[in-house]
Amino acid sequence: MASRYHEVYAEWKRDPEAFWAEAANAIDWFTPWDKVFDAEAGVYGRWFSGATCNTCHNALDRHVAGGRADQIALIHDSAITGAKQSFTYAELQREVVALAAVLARNGVTKGDRVIVYMPMIPQAAVAMLACARLGAIHSVVFGGFAARELATRIDDARPRLVVSASCGLEPNRVVAYKPLLDEAIELCAHPPQHCVIFQREQLACDLVPGRDIDYAEAVAREKDDGTEVPCVPVAATDPLYVLYTSGTTGQPKGVVRDNGGHMVMLKWTMDNEFGVKPGEVFWAASDVGWVVGHSYIVYAPLLHGCTTVMFEGKPVGTPDAGTYWRVIADHGVVALFTAPTAFRAIKGQDPKGEFIGRYDLSAFRTLFLAGERADPETIKWAEQRLGVPVIDHWWQTETGAPITHNPVGLGLLPVRHGSPGVAMPGYDIRVLDDAGHEVPTGTLGNVALKLPLPPGCLPTLWEADERFRQSYLAEFPGYYKTADAGILDEDGYLFVMARTDDIINVAGHRLSTGAMEEVLAAHPDVAECAVIGVADALKGQAPLGFVVLNAGVARDTAAIEQEVVTLVREKIGPVAAFKTVLTIKRLPKTRSGKVLRATMQKIADRQDWKMPATIDDPAVLDEIDAVLKARGIGRAE
Ligand code: COA
Ligand code: AMP
Repeated sequence: MASRYHEVYAEWKRDPEAFWAEAANAIDWFTPWDKVFDAEAGVYGRWFSGATCNTCHNALDRHVAGGRADQIALIHDSAITGAKQSFTYAELQREVVALAAVLARNGVTKGDRVIVYMPMIPQAAVAMLACARLGAIHSVVFGGFAARELATRIDDARPRLVVSASCGLEPNRVVAYKPLLDEAIELCAHPPQHCVIFQREQLACDLVPGRDIDYAEAVAREKDDGTEVPCVPVAATDPLYVLYTSGTTGQPKGVVRDNGGHMVMLKWTMDNEFGVKPGEVFWAASDVGWVVGHSYIVYAPLLHGCTTVMFEGKPVGTPDAGTYWRVIADHGVVALFTAPTAFRAIKGQDPKGEFIGRYDLSAFRTLFLAGERADPETIKWAEQRLGVPVIDHWWQTETGAPITHNPVGLGLLPVRHGSPGVAMPGYDIRVLDDAGHEVPTGTLGNVALKLPLPPGCLPTLWEADERFRQSYLAEFPGYYKTADAGILDEDGYLFVMARTDDIINVAGHRLSTGAMEEVLAAHPDVAECAVIGVADALKGQAPLGFVVLNAGVARDTAAIEQEVVTLVREKIGPVAAFKTVLTIKRLPKTRSGKVLRATMQKIADRQDWKMPATIDDPAVLDEIDAVLKARGIGRAE
């Protein structure tokens, strides 16, 4: 089938407002919009202003009323406990109504924030949808973050209530969540009034009298009472959620997502980009703590009337490299969305793909990869072993849905390995030099998106319009800066090469080296430090720290390095995967005092590098090279 992509993209370009108004017909609105796009509102304009709607209504109630009440909405599959549980649309709605009743009884109303700090259990999705039902704003915090990170988010969002669980399950350990939550509440300046805690059977926790509420007991009471909670109408432009993501400092950015535009965009992508039909089974193997989990575990599949799979486990080790195929076969998954790192892990343990042949994958049509650069070797391996198209696509927490893709639903374009595809409707991608001029086709530059951004993208940062302008809009006037560097080829395929800021991508997790440096600098023996991302065969990148000790420190450097590693785990969390720090005599700097992190990274990655003209003392790089070699990290002879 010839792809309709070019025709559809041209249609969007001709009249973006008509295009998105048409797409919006797939959503139920309580009242229609005054303007499809109001260029005068917000920082750069707002979509569907004047309209009212409710995201939970569109995700659940409309399907229950429209004939999907008995269709499975959500399957929970834990490869760690072996448990499987499914909820029909009607059952999921009942769970959501009951939890919404609990939240409302404890003071949560429209516009209030609720932090959701949960492992990968169905109650996490229920909590998100219960907030949406009430018009409350959820902010999900990934379970791999430490108490201090949670406290930072609590203080920024100032939630009325937190929904959490007693524990998460990692393959090698039970992670007690409650002590982390209690510590975060100790640390923060704006503690929530209540915490609703789901007790998992693997580890129960104590509840604080007067503050903590037992999830299961409270929900059971509301079910017994038959409490009804209608979907609260909210403005299309009201926030559905705030999701914190790494910025260039230790203060994460609160990415705001609205209700109306978000629904329109996600629903559109399911058909046209992912090629999935209502009623089919879609699986995003991510975590609800990340944007992929928000968009493609919870909201998009439910808005589209699909069955979504929520998976607790890892691609390898729970119990083996065949787990993904087992899940696909057990639940009839038609499309899987995951990060390339998962496939590198599987390929590493099962290079011949022998596990694949043991399962019935006849329903499986497409593999989608995103979250980090997909190396062509991994893509080719997956294509050959699975015999289905492997589609790389590129986006960010800020956009909430793909910027570039190969739109399966519109008809596949030829796959170009190394490229996450072409611009999707809504996105006018330009590659700019540092002065903001467009560079010729085929030239590396700053990837920028011409304003306005399409429906579903962040309208601003939580209570921080100015930070939003400064972070994204100020450098290239008229454009949104993606902070990715890339190349557009003559056919419009984008190649995303690297971040232009200090964000690194570790196993598809977005992390700030600046935030890690703040932790290193807080160690009493550390005078100066730098953290860079170095190439890692499994995780894509791994953080590597360098410390310069205070003059006169006579302690064992190995002990100090171990303390620094522990400090990052305690302050940021295990997800930082910060395992290595090297003590050096001094940092390489320019004459004006800027640390030459990019050169350090090239040396560590064994890439060609040039001596920076502005370097203060070239001998420092030799010193670093020697330390890297001594630890088996630097260049081989
Ligand atoms: N709660 C608590 N701790 C968590 C956690 C959570 N939700 N998620 C991860 N962690 C911990 C892990 O236990 C690990 O701790 P450790 O240092 O004690 O081993 C650490 O954080 C790093 O976790 P992870 O990045 O998952 O690495 P891993 O070595 O356990 O597994 C992969 C490696 C490749 C198998 C794994 O990263 C993976 O499955 N990636 C898939 C990609 C993905 O889901 N990306 C999300 C964006 S789409
Ligand atoms: P996050 O906000 O966590 O989704 O991370 C977004 C960042 O991940 C992007 O800015 C890119 O740097 C990187 N990224 C995501 N998808 C891809 C992809 N398909 N190819 C290359 N980089 C990607």
